[in-house]
Amino acid sequence: MRTYNGKAQLQSAIQGFRQSGQSIAFVPTMGNLHEGHLDLVRKGRALCDVVIVSIFVNPLQFGPSEDLDAYPRTMAADKEKLFSEGVQVLYAPGVEDIYPEGMAAQTQVHVPDLGDTLCGGSRPGHFDGVTTVVSKLFNIVQPDMAIFGEKDFQQLSIVRKMVQDLCMPIEIVGVTTHRDEDGLAMSSRNGYLTRAQRQVAPVLHQTLNSCREAIACGFDNFLQLESHARMQLLQAGFEPDYFAIRDARTLRAVTENTEEIAILAAARLGATRLIDNVRLALNPVSDWGMLADG
Ligand code: PAF
Repeated sequence: MRTYNGKAQLQSAIQGFRQSGQSIAFVPTMGNLHEGHLDLVRKGRALCDVVIVSIFVNPLQFGPSEDLDAYPRTMAADKEKLFSEGVQVLYAPGVEDIYPEGMAAQTQVHVPDLGDTLCGGSRPGHFDGVTTVVSKLFNIVQPDMAIFGEKDFQQLSIVRKMVQDLCMPIEIVGVTTHRDEDGLAMSSRNGYLTRAQRQVAPVLHQTLNSCREAIACGFDNFLQLESHARMQLLQAGFEPDYFAIRDARTLRAVTENTEEIAILAAARLGATRLIDNVRLALNPVSDWGMLADG
C-alpha cells in the first residue's frame, strides 16, 4: 500500500492506474477505522480494480463546540487494517493540502433542502463542510465509484444529490450499516461511551426497529409514533435530538407517493451524539409491508 500526503503525488499515481485501464473505487473516511469502514473497502474491492481510501478529519464539518480536537486519530492502526484489506492507495492529507488558502476563503458546496433538515438543523454548516470536502476529494481522485455507509443515511442522500446536480461522473454506492451483536451501529464515536452508556446505546436501534414494526403492522399515526419513540429514548437515558419518520428519497414527510420510509434518529448519551436509521420499503399492492434494514 502506498501512502500519499500530497495531492500532486497522489494524482500522478492515479494517472498510472488510469493509463493501464484500471477502474478506481474511492472510500472517503475520517479514520479510526472499524468493521463498518472495512465493509466499504471490501465493496470497493469487489467493484473496481483499485481502491483508494482517504483519511482526513475535516475541520470544515465540525461546529465550534463539537469534537474536532477529541476526534480519535489512529493512523498507525488504520494503515495496518487497510494494508490487510489489500487497499492499494491511502491518501492522508494535512489540512493545508485540502485548504491551502484556509477554510474561510474556501468555496463551499451547499445542497439545499436535504442538507437543511434533521442533522442539518441541529448541526448548522455540517453538511456544507461534508459536501465541500467530498467534492474536493472527488475532483482530486476522480474515481469511477465512491462508497459510503448507510449509517449516515442523510449524508449518503446529500452526496447522491450533489453528484447528480453537479453532473459528477461518479457512481455512488451505499453499504448496509455494520452493527455490533446487540444492534448498535458501528461508529468511531462509540469509543466515547462509558461502560454504562455502552449498555444503554443499543436502545436507539431497538426503538427504531419497534417503530418500523409498528408501521409495517399498519399503524400510521406517525406523530404519535415519533413522540412515543422520543419518550422511550428519554426513559432509557438519552437526550433525543430528533426521531423522524420520513420519505427515504426526499427526507420530507411521508406522502402517498412514498415508496420507502426512512426512520432516522439522533440522540445524545452524555456527551456522545449517536445517529442511526432503519428503512421500510412500502409494498405497492398492500401499502405497508416489506421490511428493509438500515
Ligand atoms: O462520513 C465521514 O466519515 C465524513 O463525513 C466524510 C464523508 C469522510 C467527509 O469528511
